[in-house]
Amino acid sequence: MSRKVIIDCDPGIDDAVALMIALFDPRLDVLAVTSTAGNVNADQAFTNLQALIECLDPPRRPRIAMGPGPLSAPPVDSTFLHGSDGLGEIHLEVAKLHQTHSAEKLISDECRAFPEAVTILCLGPMTNIANCLQRDPSFASHVGQVVIMGGSVNGIGNVTPCAEFNCHFDAESARRVLHSKTTKTVVPLDITSQVMFGIDLLEHIPKGDSRVSQLLNQILPFSFRSHRRHLAQEGISLDDAVALIALLQPELFESVPMAGDVETQGDLTLGATIFDRRTVKTWTNNMEVITTVDVAGVRDSILRGIIQAAKATI
Ligand code: RIB
Ligand code: CA
Repeated sequence: MSRKVIIDCDPGIDDAVALMIALFDPRLDVLAVTSTAGNVNADQAFTNLQALIECLDPPRRPRIAMGPGPLSAPPVDSTFLHGSDGLGEIHLEVAKLHQTHSAEKLISDECRAFPEAVTILCLGPMTNIANCLQRDPSFASHVGQVVIMGGSVNGIGNVTPCAEFNCHFDAESARRVLHSKTTKTVVPLDITSQVMFGIDLLEHIPKGDSRVSQLLNQILPFSFRSHRRHLAQEGISLDDAVALIALLQPELFESVPMAGDVETQGDLTLGATIFDRRTVKTWTNNMEVITTVDVAGVRDSILRGIIQAAKATI
């Protein structure tokens, strides 16, 4: 029995890789994919999502919907890592849809249709999920599980010295989601940043002109160049793909219950995730947090997922 999932994302190169793997994995039934602002603005994120689904043409087409993004976002820009279009400057063309569905309505409807059976995989800022919680107080009781790529346990951020991008970009929504009565598993930057890929990743992309191989050959070289140029890194992380593997193969990870929250006011600390790890803590545990990862195992799973998706799109 395949697992019902909704993928909420801000494509984004690593979002795109996670989507390619998920859409062709028989263990998943991707009911819907929704976009949110983050790596790129809300319009571009939805254009990218629509273009990816059209280009990949998965056997079971998920429903798609657009999220508006937060009412206000900090002045951050990750297009230097993902390209001005969010997908490595490939600027995929799409036909304008006559009607664009609302992400929060689609997510709410699907979770209500399959009570406690849907896993929401959050790969971007948590604006849409927070909007669902605000829109419908019973939403939390309908959701099965929320798997979140976000936050940082060791306090080291990526977009600021202490905040991870998805939590920083919409800290209010991250706080609302982490405070909610949903069952949450957080895959923090401490974990996802351990799974690095060298330039040899390009050699693992199946030869030939499958739709997935073509897409990967277009978007990944940009990511290697931008990581080298802007982060002085000879390699890339695919944070969102790691979060997907945490959903697919939890046996490759260890997690512990933790009590966590998100800073929403700090000038220097906006979006920082704070965890109560005192011997005698007063905060109540509100999530599972991934604390260890089988790096080689996850890297291998991502490579196998890419190969499987490429074979399915010849
Ligand atoms: O901090 C990494 C996360 O922020 C990833 O989801 C990346 O795509 C960006 O959204
Ligand atoms: Ca993302």
